[in-house]
Amino acid sequence: MNDFIQEILIDEQEIDGICSKIAADISRDYANSQKKLLLLCILKGSVVFMGELMKKITVPVEIDFMKVSSYGSGTSSAGKINILLDLHRGDLEDIDIVIVEDIIDSGRTLSHLTEYLKLKGAHSVRTCTLLDKPSRREVNFNADYVGKIIPDKFVIGFGLDYDEKYRALPFVGVLRPEYVKN
Ligand code: PRP
Repeated sequence: MNDFIQEILIDEQEIDGICSKIAADISRDYANSQKKLLLLCILKGSVVFMGELMKKITVPVEIDFMKVSSYGSGTSSAGKINILLDLHRGDLEDIDIVIVEDIIDSGRTLSHLTEYLKLKGAHSVRTCTLLDKPSRREVNFNADYVGKIIPDKFVIGFGLDYDEKYRALPFVGVLRPEYVKN
């Protein structure tokens, strides 16, 4: 195992099962919808999860991307969010959006984005996350589809980074504390 990994939290097989389960749930929930289903990937961490999920969903989907940033630095996401790449389409009233996230921490990003997309006129907005750290929550928010609840450890891989590294790992691992800059 790589020396920067303290432990593998979710291996490739478990991730595959999580993606299959969420994809089946989404496919079931939108099977009879008259609207278009849009998977909205929040860059960058959600790219890998989104790629797996969209292959497994059995109803027609469109995809799009937004990029947001939270104020604050280091290993904590905090404060208000900035929209760096917005969603531009003129038919939002005909769209059911499922926001795809890699992780929920404080809950601010998804809480803010959900309200924002509803105000923009989306027919409906649901949220989906691979990982959830409820112990870190600062606002009252729960996703509609949750892959796995995890403890408050610094996780990397399957899209998640530390200082832009480790996103390409095929599993979710815990970064050794000595690899985190103070
Ligand atoms: C992470 C994650 C969520 C957000 C969750 O993104 O992908 O978007 O933080 O935190 P919150 O629940 O406290 O709002 P990050 O800002 O690290 O960007 P990245 O996906 O580009 O790595």
